[in-house]
Amino acid sequence: MSGHGTPIPMTSRRAGPLKGVAEVPGDKSISHRSLILGALAIGETQISGLLEGEDVIDTAKAMRAFGAEVTDHGGGDWSVHGVGVGGFQEPDNVIDCGNSGTGVRLIMGVMATQPITATFTGDASLNKRPMARVTDPLELFGTQAVGREGGRLPMTLVGAADPVPVRYEVPVPSAQVKSAVLLAGLNAPGKTVVIEKEATRDHSERMLAGFGAEITVEDTDEGRVITLTGQPELKPQVIAVPRDPSSAAFPVCAALVTPGSDVLVPGIGLNPTRAGLFTTLREMGADLAYENEREEGGEPVADLRAKFSPEMKGIEVPPERAASMIDEYPVLSVVAAFATGNTMMAGVKELRVKESDRIDAMARGLRANGVTVEEGADWWSVEGLGPDGVPGGATCESFLDHRIAMSFMVMGMGAQKPVSVDDGSPIATSFPIFEPLMSSLGAQIVRSNS
Ligand code: S3P
Repeated sequence: MSGHGTPIPMTSRRAGPLKGVAEVPGDKSISHRSLILGALAIGETQISGLLEGEDVIDTAKAMRAFGAEVTDHGGGDWSVHGVGVGGFQEPDNVIDCGNSGTGVRLIMGVMATQPITATFTGDASLNKRPMARVTDPLELFGTQAVGREGGRLPMTLVGAADPVPVRYEVPVPSAQVKSAVLLAGLNAPGKTVVIEKEATRDHSERMLAGFGAEITVEDTDEGRVITLTGQPELKPQVIAVPRDPSSAAFPVCAALVTPGSDVLVPGIGLNPTRAGLFTTLREMGADLAYENEREEGGEPVADLRAKFSPEMKGIEVPPERAASMIDEYPVLSVVAAFATGNTMMAGVKELRVKESDRIDAMARGLRANGVTVEEGADWWSVEGLGPDGVPGGATCESFLDHRIAMSFMVMGMGAQKPVSVDDGSPIATSFPIFEPLMSSLGAQIVRSNS
């Protein structure tokens, strides 16, 4: 688990161009869901390409604690022997989800409609994050939740012994909340309905259908209406996890801001609920091509080719695109600093409740490195300094947030002076091979404040 060990200061400095192939790890969202749904199927689910980052490993441990047999076969191959919907056993100990909001919220959803009690905790970042957004709808099923002030972890959930199905309109654009309600609905009789006004990542819906649940999605005037029929028998699956577009964002953006670069990032899922960053970069004038476009496992996939892009212009990112790139705003703000003109990012108040307050964390680090940032409650803007205009030279706090740490490492690759972070250890939560992979392309990242 990150944030409990010794901090790892890191420094990134300008080197030669970035060149080569960047094979990024498996998708974090799909990796969590593969383990969780595998644990709810009867029989053996086989997973290849699982992201072996700390967040996902914590979910694997949690699934074992609830009674599933989870085996690591090496090289990203895992199997899960599930216990069936409603078959969780009560864990003997506290469930520690480390840094992972997705892990804890989805797992709370699953156990909320089973007659067991579980206590959840996490690291210093996770224990600050709001959980009422999940426990409020779970209480409608009959679950009881007791946590710290403000609905924070550590928190104990007493699962509903006789759950009732629920109709719930998600008040914030959150795939985690949507998924928690759907996973709770799995063990409630009848139909659970979730309505979301803005479409968020739809991996839960797609994967539940893949595992054999009866689930329908309708686009209506109310929004996306998702209807799940409870108490299905889920059938084990063979899952090849696609590579993570949110991790691909880092080598792609690094190539755009590092002179002379040409990097291929193969096999990236371009599910429209996830691909907003790439659309935005292309609108800014980035030299970013989709090569070898194809379908894999029902998802659009392409190889991304990113080249140094000195002509990028600041834009207004459409607020309605926010959900499809919510994890990518930190690194987009770095690219915006190397563009010409202002980049405005509005409709993004969810950024304030991620692993850190990402607007605050990025604004502090960007300003320390000579970039002008303005911000409000749900918007921020970055004044571009052009391809060679970012001064750099400062150390930024990563606030236990992997994406903040990686974003500032990308900034150091194109800035005039090196850029440091106080602690790069959280990178291991989602992208454990970040340093060797970026180094293999020609980046210079060292573990020290120099
Ligand atoms: C995720 C949903 C998003 C995202 C997170 C992964 C998921 O969070 O930021 O990294 O896998 O469902 P929210 O649901 O809080 O928006």
